[in-house]
Amino acid sequence: MPPSTPAAPIVFVLNGPNLNLLGSREPEIYGSDTLDDIAGMLEDRARALGLEIDLRQSNHEGHLIDWLHEAQGVEARAVLLNAGALTHTSVALYDAIRAIRTPVIEVHLSNPHQREDFRHKSYVGMAAKATIAGLGAQGYLLALEAAAGF
Ligand code: DQA
Repeated sequence: MPPSTPAAPIVFVLNGPNLNLLGSREPEIYGSDTLDDIAGMLEDRARALGLEIDLRQSNHEGHLIDWLHEAQGVEARAVLLNAGALTHTSVALYDAIRAIRTPVIEVHLSNPHQREDFRHKSYVGMAAKATIAGLGAQGYLLALEAAAGF
């Protein structure tokens, strides 16, 4: 039997409401990459870093909360979390991030601080280890690079 290679550490990439529409949704703000394009870029970079990614999207808050718990359950190396508009409203996401030991990096394509006032508060950012915002799809790649060092 060939020696078994240990599984690569896994990084969850969780995406919230409306991010399934990336590519066609306000491209002047969010860019023209689709979520599938971002997944492809992340998979290539993950391979080079010796990581595996598990990218998911949901329009439902509870799914994101369940997946944060699951990330801890499977001992994920980190979670990259773009919670979309739930970023600015969800105490439940704040609690979920604080409830797990898995490090969470908040990611945003746009820079919410340059936008409407209601986007200036981030419940996710108050609980996350770090935030990357305003760099478009590249922000996900930078977050993955950081996760490789955890
Ligand atoms: C976003 C910023 C949020 O304010 C917005 O509600 C989104 C996308 C971003 O990636 O820039 O849905 O998280």
